[in-house]
Formats: sequence, C-alpha cells, structure tokens
Amino acid sequence: MKRPTKQPNRSSRKVITEIEEPRRINLTVNGEAMSLTFRSWRTLLEVLRDDLDLTGTKEGCDGGECGACTVLIDDEPRLACMTLAATLHGKKVLTIEGLLQNGNLHPLQRAFLEKGAVQCGYCTPGVILSAKSLLDRNPTPAEDDIKRALSGNLCRCTGYQKIIDAVMEAAEPKIVIA
Ligand code: FES
Ligand code: FES
Repeated sequence: MKRPTKQPNRSSRKVITEIEEPRRINLTVNGEAMSLTFRSWRTLLEVLRDDLDLTGTKEGCDGGECGACTVLIDDEPRLACMTLAATLHGKKVLTIEGLLQNGNLHPLQRAFLEKGAVQCGYCTPGVILSAKSLLDRNPTPAEDDIKRALSGNLCRCTGYQKIIDAVMEAAEPKIVIA
C-alpha cells in the first residue's frame, strides 16, 4: 500500500488512519484552553467542525481558493482547510463563534446586518474574521485597504459593495477637524 506524499484525499486518509499515531496538542479556541487528540493529517477545518461542533467555520472549496473557512490564528487570517491542526500547538484560534461577547454581537456583525451585507451567509464568517483582523491592525481603513484585506474571501451574492460599506461602518469614526 502506497503512502501519499501530498495532502491526502479522502480515500487515502483511510490508509493513514491505520498507520499514524494520534497527536495531542494544547491550544486555545475562542478563549478556552483545550487539549485535543487527533490524527496528524486532519485539518483545522475538520477538527473545528467535526470534533468541536464549531460549524460557523464553513467548508467551501476545501482547496484554499474561496476563503469561506477563514479563522484567525494568533490574530492573523488563515485558511482552516489548508492548516493541519497538528501544527497549532500553543496557538490561539478564533472562529466566528468567539466574536460574541456576553451574547452581544460584535460591531462588525451588527454592521453586516444593518448594511445588508449578508445574503446566503456562507462567506460571512470568513469575511468578518478577515475584516476583524484588518480593523485590529488599522481601525480607520480606506476602501482600498478593505478590498485588499478581503481579497481572499469570495462572495457570490452581495457584489461586495455592501460588505465594504459594513466594514467602513464598523471602523472607528474618523476624526474630522472643522
Ligand atoms: S474552504 Fe478553505 S479556502 Fe475554500
Ligand atoms: S453572502 Fe452568499 S456568498 Fe457571500
């Protein structure tokens, strides 16, 4: 039986299951310290959705193209479908579920609703996390900054302008000197 050298497809994963030892890592997910055990080939997307039931992180292309699976790892946007969970020992992961504070929506989530930037909603968790990372670094972004920050997140519904408007809305108000 041949062992694959690249990212295994779903049929070859069965083979690896029989020969790979499970890995144990410690990490923080949405502020909660966790110790997780899983096969070394499993992606962060699989662990989040299947093991932790955090289904707000979406599976789109499963190939690094659409951005639907974007989460923040140590505050940086990363594609969960392209990230092996075993590489995250000691890291901090934030998913869309972690944005709620005491049951209240994050300002970005509120702005997306107010501006009509959510239609089917499939891209929305990834878009919002990319936008959060931008606003954490740059609280008053220009429209071009937003376009650049969201360039890896595809949306098939909104035409993007409402998304950009929502991120502008959630950004800190600019100081206008009269
Ligand atoms: S599902 Fe990860 S980039 Fe599309
Ligand atoms: S709202 Fe449907 S893909 Fe973006």
